[in-house]
Amino acid sequence: MNVRKVQDIIEPQFVTEGAGVRLRRSIATRRLDYLDPFLLFDHFGSDDPDDYLAGFPMHPHRGIETVTYMMAGLVDHKDSLGNSGTVGAGDVQWMTSGSGILHEEMPRPKDGKMYGFQLWVNLPAKLKMTRPRYQDVPSAGIPEIVREDGVRIRVIAGDVDGVRGAVTEIYADPEYLDVSVPAGRSFGQPVPEGHTAFAYVFEGEGVFGADAGGGGTTVPATRLAVFGGGDVVNLRAQNRSVRFLLFSGRPLGEPVARYGPFVMNTKEEIAQALADLRNGTFVK
Ligand code: CO
Repeated sequence: MNVRKVQDIIEPQFVTEGAGVRLRRSIATRRLDYLDPFLLFDHFGSDDPDDYLAGFPMHPHRGIETVTYMMAGLVDHKDSLGNSGTVGAGDVQWMTSGSGILHEEMPRPKDGKMYGFQLWVNLPAKLKMTRPRYQDVPSAGIPEIVREDGVRIRVIAGDVDGVRGAVTEIYADPEYLDVSVPAGRSFGQPVPEGHTAFAYVFEGEGVFGADAGGGGTTVPATRLAVFGGGDVVNLRAQNRSVRFLLFSGRPLGEPVARYGPFVMNTKEEIAQALADLRNGTFVK
């Protein structure tokens, strides 16, 4: 067993996106541009609805997957394929844009609150123009493991203790876990060697990466920790409980040409996406 050490700690940056949504971004910044295969990670939400009500009006995506996980409040969405719905607290929407969709995502509060996360996962060259697909999983459809020591794990994607996550058949073979660890308790999870892995701590704090030789790195909310090589991620909560998201996925190792909501392999493919949008041939 080779424990993964924290290699980098990222402090999210405040950015404004969509029609004026203030959010905390940890991947897709000058500090951390790309964590192959993960293209972007945003933590959105605020106690002030003026920070988000303008939402994300109709916009395109091509060549990527966007994963929305809500903690509080709601996001209403509709798209160019005729899909519409609402992602509520605890729900996940895993959207494979493939060749292209146009959609809008409009957050609104429930009981005065709205917050959640959006992750972008890259698609390999051979799937960039695949047919768009949604996996909408209501909160009740996400397996939740409660261990004897009180550690709780919601398995959005991946496998934990023999329990398979709600979202499957994703190329990057990703793992997406929502983990709550009480004070004084520990958590460990095998992560395949060679897969990129990171955690986003959003409540409390914990120590990642301690092994027989000690060490370990304290990561408080709200910070993103990037892990180095190894085959297991571990965490110990000391005086405080901690809640974090754990992600891993197989890197693509392909060239990235990125332009806003389009992520392709070459500049020519980006130019094609823009031309398709102009010509009204974007949605296949
Ligand atoms: Co979008």
